[in-house]
Amino acid sequence: MGILRREREQSWGGKTRNECLRLTSTAGRREAGEVRRIVFKIDGKVALITGAGSGIGREIARLFARQGATVAIGDVNDEAAAGVAGEIAAEGGAAFALRLDVTDLTSAEEAVRGIVARGGRLDILVNNAGIGLVGNLTETAPDDFARLMAVNVIGVYHCAHAAVGQMLAQEPKGGVIVNIASIAGQVAVARRFAYGASKGAVISMTQSIAMDYVDQGIRCNCICPGTVETPFVDSYLRRFHADAIEETRAQLHARQPLGRMGRPEEIAPLALYLVSDEAAYVTGAQMVIDGGLTAR
Ligand SMILES: NC(=O)c1ccc[n+]([C@@H]2O[C@H](COP(=O)([O-])OP(=O)(O)OC[C@H]3O[C@@H](n4cnc5c(N)ncnc54)[C@H](O)[C@@H]3O)[C@@H](O)[C@H]2O)c1
Repeated sequence: MGILRREREQSWGGKTRNECLRLTSTAGRREAGEVRRIVFKIDGKVALITGAGSGIGREIARLFARQGATVAIGDVNDEAAAGVAGEIAAEGGAAFALRLDVTDLTSAEEAVRGIVARGGRLDILVNNAGIGLVGNLTETAPDDFARLMAVNVIGVYHCAHAAVGQMLAQEPKGGVIVNIASIAGQVAVARRFAYGASKGAVISMTQSIAMDYVDQGIRCNCICPGTVETPFVDSYLRRFHADAIEETRAQLHARQPLGRMGRPEEIAPLALYLVSDEAAYVTGAQMVIDGGLTAR
């Protein structure tokens, strides 16, 4: 008698072990051979998106709400946060604005408490709030360096600290974190000394969180965008290239292999994938989305 026959007659109800594995690996809900449509649904999930009053965070918040999540729009800019919450409500989604200064741990903790009071739990944190700074080492003033680190690095620490505490305490336990890093944390971008250092730290925090909570139902990944046309880019063009804004903008488009900067709505679907159940096997990853910039 062959091994397969023998296995069939053992304890798997007439099925081979492989047939059983195929069925159980689909959580027992599907019949063998059934094809599942991938939809990245996050229905009923409760999400905090930091810095969601503008740019990439705004698009992530709008997409998450369209996919069924309740979204907290956390931002230091109250008016911008309220505006995005209003846009989402007008599209039929569930969102509320929340005052959040990521540089302040108490503010992060209050935000998480406020979300749990309204939504019962916190399933998703997107650490998106961030600021830019152009300059090489000697051009970077200590105050500017400290301010950048306070938002881009300590802000991620504060929000993740508050969120992971909640994710471990709630029932069922767990959650998903997505950090918005940058390719500037992976490769040297000219005159991005402090910014690159801050995003390198975000990548490192992503990996640490992913490993430290891998057994506790928490996944953590980061997205490394290239240059994305948002108010962030407008503001550094005004601040650092005031005499040649349009010329520099054209150079920014031209230096991308795809011939243009990215758009915030092109980053949001990657965040959606990472927080969805389809990404259950993805943790500690750095997902590059840069129009080919780092491929050459
Ligand atoms: N735009 C790009 O080219 C690009 C590229 C790579 C990575 N990123 C990163 O993506 C993220 C979002 O960038 P964006 O382009 O959408 O920027 P943006 O300037 O359009 O939006 C950033 C938002 O963060 C908020 N914010 C700033 N400080 C805050 C604080 N202390 N607490 C809470 N909110 C605060 C701002 O009010 C704003 O609404 C940032 O982390 C940025 O570093 C951007």
